[in-house]
Amino acid sequence: MTIRKAVIPCAGLGTRFLPFTKVMPKELVPLLDKPLIHHAIDEAIASDIDEIVLVTSPEKEALRRYFEELPKGLEGRSTDNPDLAFAGEYSSWGGTISFVEQREPNGLGHAVLMAEEAIGLEPFAVLLPDDLILSTSPTLKVMVELFEVYKSGLIAVEKVSWEKVGNYGIIDPEPVDEKVYRVNGVVEKPVEAQAPSDLAIVGRYIMPPEIFRFLEKTRPGARGEIQLTDGIGLMLEQFSVFAYRFDGIRHDIGNPIGLFGASLALADRRQIYMDVLNSFLDEFSAKRGMSS
Ligand code: UTP
Repeated sequence: MTIRKAVIPCAGLGTRFLPFTKVMPKELVPLLDKPLIHHAIDEAIASDIDEIVLVTSPEKEALRRYFEELPKGLEGRSTDNPDLAFAGEYSSWGGTISFVEQREPNGLGHAVLMAEEAIGLEPFAVLLPDDLILSTSPTLKVMVELFEVYKSGLIAVEKVSWEKVGNYGIIDPEPVDEKVYRVNGVVEKPVEAQAPSDLAIVGRYIMPPEIFRFLEKTRPGARGEIQLTDGIGLMLEQFSVFAYRFDGIRHDIGNPIGLFGASLALADRRQIYMDVLNSFLDEFSAKRGMSS
């Protein structure tokens, strides 16, 4: 069975961007020429997803409006027009985007559970828009291909420094292939001494529909929220899950510094932005030369 559907949870509070997230969803902040959410949509489309379910909160009506305006912005315009770069993969996509609501921000696991009806009885992808992964092949696409081989749940992971393991969900790994591990356990935000490895869960997942059953039973954990990691932990008692250590660099764009770094990394792929950056750097080094 192939992966056709993806859930993109967008109902978090965005506290790292307060106070503006009180009035505007962080998912609509532009990263170069398009909102953060649109980068996640592009990765889903490039991974052959044809149904995207956005989990939003009642305060984030603007997200829905963005996707209503998007097709209007494309109407009557040729898709090879460079002015349409903002549309990305979306401009020639024939799929659908639907919305479900998470009324209270009870955690990522709870947000995914809100998509149960929209997903039904098939395996599906989850993408967190806060994690931008720059790599040669889209990470989710590689995971969709790995799903064909392992036919089990999959989690993207990356090595983090030991001092930072407490910020992440961490897996207990057993290597099975060059970049693939069997997951023997997961723990959300462990203290360093109790972390089973330095492999941290990053926001790309493929889940069997059974995960919903386990999320229903998951009790609030770290931060008093229903964590997807804990739901996966329960599922592991009955189902195999594998982890994929992806190629490429992940940027946490859910905070201002990470967003700045991601802007520079993305600009490096786009001449029009590099021209601006290079002329700024010339000016900057000339000024520093004068003052030294
Ligand atoms: P985060 O906790 O990293 O993001 O959740 P956040 O809550 O939006 O931001 P901070 O930490 O307060 O700054 C990871 C992902 O899960 C979604 C978020 O929208 C984000 O995409 N999420 C989180 C939900 O949809 N619902 C929740 O209750 C919690």
